[in-house]
Amino acid sequence: MENYFAKFSAFGSFAPAKILTNQDLEKIVDTTDEWIRTRTGMVERRMASKEEAASDLAYQAALNAIEASKVKYKEIDMIIVATISGDHAFPSTSCILQHKLGLKNVPAFDLSAGCTGFIYACDVANQYVRNGQARNILVVGVEILTKITNWTDRNTCVLFGDAAGAAVISRAEPTDISKIIDTKIDADGSMGDYLIQMAGGSRLPASAETVEANQHTLTMEGNRVFKSAIKSMYASSDELLKRNNLSSADVDWVIPHQANLRIIEALADKMKVPLSKVIINIQKYGNTSSATVPLAIDEAIRKKKIRRGDILLLTSFGAGLTWGSILARY
Ligand SMILES: CC(C)(COP(=O)(O)OP(=O)(O)OC[C@H]1O[C@@H](n2cnc3c(N)ncnc32)[C@H](O)[C@@H]1OP(=O)(O)O)[C@@H](O)C(=O)NCCC(=O)NCCS
Repeated sequence: MENYFAKFSAFGSFAPAKILTNQDLEKIVDTTDEWIRTRTGMVERRMASKEEAASDLAYQAALNAIEASKVKYKEIDMIIVATISGDHAFPSTSCILQHKLGLKNVPAFDLSAGCTGFIYACDVANQYVRNGQARNILVVGVEILTKITNWTDRNTCVLFGDAAGAAVISRAEPTDISKIIDTKIDADGSMGDYLIQMAGGSRLPASAETVEANQHTLTMEGNRVFKSAIKSMYASSDELLKRNNLSSADVDWVIPHQANLRIIEALADKMKVPLSKVIINIQKYGNTSSATVPLAIDEAIRKKKIRRGDILLLTSFGAGLTWGSILARY
């Protein structure tokens, strides 16, 4: 087995046009702009139209990432889509995306790790590039959670938005400054019930009764997830830094999952990283699940905040429960 390094060649993102503000939500459930802002940091989020499915958002984000990467379409040799709200239960959204991109004969598969999906997918892509089995992998995190939201549950319906983020992960040449330094993914299935879409799978197939009971929508024990989010993102980030003889002071940008501003602030505080080094866009998009991290990075690159050579620490947590981090020089 040959052993190479992988790098992030480029990022891309896409969010649907429709904006749903906190004021819009005040008209749907018993909530207030003030509660949402102070408890979550969210101000508005995007919402897919009736016609838009996950692969449509993924396609636009993928086009942006591929264009920015300068990698030719025929040089892409694998597609991984991280999603829990794909177009269909099957076929995979990655196969639909492959067809839309006009790519033929490249392996394509979906990966389910909730909001940690993009980190998991990058970890997998990193292994394929490192062992020489692939040279350029398209990784997408895409979610349309507004279509599996219970719009009568104020505990969850104010939190989520729709978007896609993509990256092209390529083999790093020996002269490249960019490389994925290390990755770490983790899971604890004993906490699976904290964040779950109960019906629609083989445990509880979709029926008139499950739809009537709103069991096809997501439910969450917000408080329990909150506590483990800070602990788990800190643990995997800390381990990555330690085993690479780095400290948080060496990191130029922390890009955390955007689930709650209070979680981001607590994590930054625990890591002793000033908020000026943390990429935050939760106010604009809410929690877009597996899309938050690539969407935040792509925006920061386009605003020229993140630059080539910067040390990045990506970290996320989500349904499973799952969590993980990536340390990379962009
Ligand atoms: C969901 C979350 C924002 C709730 O914030 P919180 O401070 O923990 O709030 P609580 O759940 O303790 O609820 C406090 C009160 O606010 C109420 N409340 C919940 N949602 C509300 C809303 N949208 N508007 C107004 N009040 C609301 C609750 O009913 C509760 O009222 P009560 O005290 O009368 O029972 C927070 O727990 C969170 O962000 N958790 C992590 C979620 C997450 O990261 N999920 C994604 C994982 S990828």
